[in-house]
Amino acid sequence: MEHLVIKGKQKIRGAVSINGAKNAAVAVIPASLLTESRVKIENLPKITDIFWLIEILKALGAKVSVEEGGDLWIDSAGVHSFKPPPELVNKFRASYYFMGALLGRCGQVEIPMPGGCNLGPRPIDQHIKGFTAMGARVELEQGLVKIKAEKLRGAHIYLDVISVGATINIMLAAARAEGKTIIENAAKEPEIVDVANLLNAMGAQVIGTGTDIIKIRGVSELGGAEHNVIPDRIETGTFMIAAAATGGDLLIEDVIPKHLDPVIAKLRETGVPLAIGPDWIKVLPRNALYPADVKTFPYPGFPTDLQAPMMVLLTQVPGVSLVSENVFEGRFRHVDELKKMGARIKLEGRTAIIEGGSQLISAPIKATDLRGGAALVIAGMLAEGETTIEGIEHIDRGYEHLEERLNLLGAKIERRIMTKDVFPGK
Ligand code: UD1
Repeated sequence: MEHLVIKGKQKIRGAVSINGAKNAAVAVIPASLLTESRVKIENLPKITDIFWLIEILKALGAKVSVEEGGDLWIDSAGVHSFKPPPELVNKFRASYYFMGALLGRCGQVEIPMPGGCNLGPRPIDQHIKGFTAMGARVELEQGLVKIKAEKLRGAHIYLDVISVGATINIMLAAARAEGKTIIENAAKEPEIVDVANLLNAMGAQVIGTGTDIIKIRGVSELGGAEHNVIPDRIETGTFMIAAAATGGDLLIEDVIPKHLDPVIAKLRETGVPLAIGPDWIKVLPRNALYPADVKTFPYPGFPTDLQAPMMVLLTQVPGVSLVSENVFEGRFRHVDELKKMGARIKLEGRTAIIEGGSQLISAPIKATDLRGGAALVIAGMLAEGETTIEGIEHIDRGYEHLEERLNLLGAKIERRIMTKDVFPGK
């Protein structure tokens, strides 16, 4: 088991380039199963979720080759299985996209309930509601979700909850269904638009992504395509917050600033000076910071994936800030770890009350989910002394070489193999 050792009180300075979006990449890779032709995917992040997706594709019978620069060629002509291996599916949440993709390709799929970050209850009832409306039969048997459709037919589906996963999964299944599918109350995230762009390049007819009504006219066959994944807005936001929290000065390149609107607005409200260009964002050295009231919501609201990093920034702001989590019920597991570092945070239901302005101090802490883990890395960079973080496999699931890139910007983070003395009592 590896852990990170962070020497605190270092400022983030320089320039960093942003990778392809994890949450788009994890959907466009399964989407390639919807055609028997070759699909090329460029600008993929080198993170463990992507490695696992490639392993699942191979296990299903696809040929996958990775070019030197990291671009992926997927040839799904030889796909012979509709059963993704449970031990891989269990590792991450986005494996649920094999439901829609294999249903569209093979008319059936057998898959365990997906794994992934523990953010409280994460049901998939809206995905199932969509598949069922399209004529599929869904059974839960010995922990496996078995979905089968003699013929998938377009349907009018109103999502009860705004769900990124359900919106994309229904889109995948509908791309080759007979007739027209309408998704109402759809999620509007940029990653959904990105997946639709690939599907349309393959010959699908998807319109309306980015709005809350998506229409998909099914086609009988899809062809090959090449696709460049959009930049990761959550990685961008993480670097913005890391620079702002440490009082640094950072140019973040290869981004789509529009996708960061809610984050830009909230950081400016907090007093962080920012300069914005066509494909870059610069975090400038800051003076005084002001308390803020942050509420997470589906896009274009403030992203729940940046709630934990933002909370770390707010621990540095004199006065009382509020952070309300409105997307996931159990997404405050980082709070206990931050308290071990001296943060003054009180939880009241879905709201965290942060009394900021005090110096964080180092402590042995544990990442329990991906974004919470990134937040703890930022906290470690602010702290007095040497902070040790275990559970970093969560961080590796979604950030490519995070500590190496931060080190190039002035951080002092070391990855070490864990020994008993680091975490006494274990
Ligand atoms: C995706 C992102 C995740 C992000 C989240 C919200 C991926 C791989 N992950 O997760 O990083 O934090 O969107 O922006 O893209 N819900 C139901 N029933 C369902 C589906 C969802 O009740 O069938 C609820 C969830 O429990 C949650 C809310 O809807 O409270 C939003 O979930 P959803 O948008 O589906 O999140 P994910 O797709 O899991």
